[in-house]
Parts: sequence; structure tokens; C-alpha cells
Amino acid sequence: MPLVDPRPIVERAHARGRAVVGANVSTIQMVRGVIQAAESAGRPVLIQFNRSGLSLIGGVDVAMLVVKTIAEESDAHVALHLDHADTLDEISAAINAGFGSVMIDGSTLPFERHLTLAQSARGLTTWSRLPLEAELGHVAGNEAGVTIGDASWTNPDEAARFVEASDVDWLAVAVGNTHGGPAVGGLQIDRLQAIRAAVDVPLVLHGASGLTDEDLFRAVELGVAKINVGTALHQAAANGMRDYIQQRPGDLRGALQRSEANVAEAATALLTAPWAL
Ligand code: 13P
Ligand code: ZN
Repeated sequence: MPLVDPRPIVERAHARGRAVVGANVSTIQMVRGVIQAAESAGRPVLIQFNRSGLSLIGGVDVAMLVVKTIAEESDAHVALHLDHADTLDEISAAINAGFGSVMIDGSTLPFERHLTLAQSARGLTTWSRLPLEAELGHVAGNEAGVTIGDASWTNPDEAARFVEASDVDWLAVAVGNTHGGPAVGGLQIDRLQAIRAAVDVPLVLHGASGLTDEDLFRAVELGVAKINVGTALHQAAANGMRDYIQQRPGDLRGALQRSEANVAEAATALLTAPWAL
């Protein structure tokens, strides 16, 4: 079916105390694997590209064409999201290409500069009313294509000010979560609770690879309505290719097929998790 609007999906997740999976991808095989999983699980999914994924697939227009074409051949509800853009040019390019939602990531900037950047991104998305995500506090770790600094946890009072002044639709939080690894010291449930009390927009949890379903379930109970997973899906793709190549060196076609199957399996586990919409 045609690509869908992610706003009602995230709102439905929020209203039902569930979360939609934001699946970060970099290759056509990953897109195919995730969409197959969404179709067979009967669950919606946001396919997400960051700068690194976009450079691998060939830019926003190629990403759009690939995701749209594969989604149209399936029955899955698929939306396309730009992840971790830190410039307005990237936001404009994704809007022009037809993405369904965008993230502006000024999370390494001082508060006021970050707010100005988010307000400018809001300005760009106003006409189309495309959902805008921003991250307050900073999720550190290791993610290709993402500007990473030292972790700083989301301050609930600042979150309230930021959401009010920027009018963002979804707020990504830093509550112990880490890109590319488990939450060091565990998820900060008290902080998440305080953020929930301070803002009423759907929250986004980045860095979900390596978190347990139990952690994710608790986060979702506290207002997280989108869960971003990248590393686990990339590992599934890479491991599939490695295992296949070890057995049949030089058979690239087979290796690519194996990577697709592995991504479909990993995505199915996420999409059918107890917290998933
Ligand atoms: P992980 O790579 O840790 O799963 O994080 C993904 C992410 O936050 C994408 O924005
Ligand atoms: Zn992220």
C-alpha cells in the first residue's frame, strides 16, 4: 500500500500505551526485511534513515523511491522518517523528497541555540504539518552518521519549556539509553516519570538495541510511543552476510538474501514484542 502518515500511528501508540518501532536501515535488503516483517506481523513500522544510511542508499530521493516501491508491493503500513538531521538543509531535502516525518537533532547544542534550531525546523514543517521530533538531553554512544557528544540526561523542567516553545510533536529523551549499546546503569525510570508528568507529547526512546523487553515495556508504560532500533538490525544484516560468505565465499547474491532474511527475523521479534503497537 502507499506510504502512510506516521502521525496517527504514533498517536494511536500513545493512546493505547504501546510503541511503534522506528527501524533504522541502510540498504535495500534491510528495507525489504523490515517491510516483510511488518507485513507478516500485521504491525505498522517507521522506516528511518540517518545521514549514514542515506549516504549508503544514495540520498533522500533514492530512499524515498526504494521504500515507497517496496511498501506499495506489500500490505504493510509503512511510514518514512528522517532520523538525526542536524541541519535545516537536511530537513528541507527530506520534506521535498516526500518523507512523512523528520527529526531535528540539536541535542549537543546549548539550550537556547537548540531551541532556535528546533523552531526553525518547525517553521519548515509548518506548511505540511509534518511531525517534527527533537531530542532534549543527549543520547550518547556510538551511531554511524550521528553527531555524538557526552551523555546529558533530559531535565523535565527544560523538557516542558522546550516542547512549549518549539511546538515539536515528539520528544526524544535521554534517560540512561545509549546509541549502539545497553543503557549504562539501566533506564532511569524516575526521570522518565518526571518527564512524562511535565510534557504530554509522545516520547521517543533512542538506542533501544540491547535493552530488554522488560525495560522497553516499562518505558512504554511511561509514555514512550516510538522506539528506535538501529544497531540490532545492522548486526543482524552483517552477521547474516558473514555467516553465508564463510560457507560460500564469493556468492554475494546469496549473502544479500541471507542479510534480508536475518533482518526480517530481527524486525519480527521487535514488531511482535509485548510493548509493540
Ligand atoms: P541503536 O542503534 O542503539 O538501536 O539506536 C538506534 C537509534 O537511536 C536510531 O535513532
Ligand atoms: Zn538515535
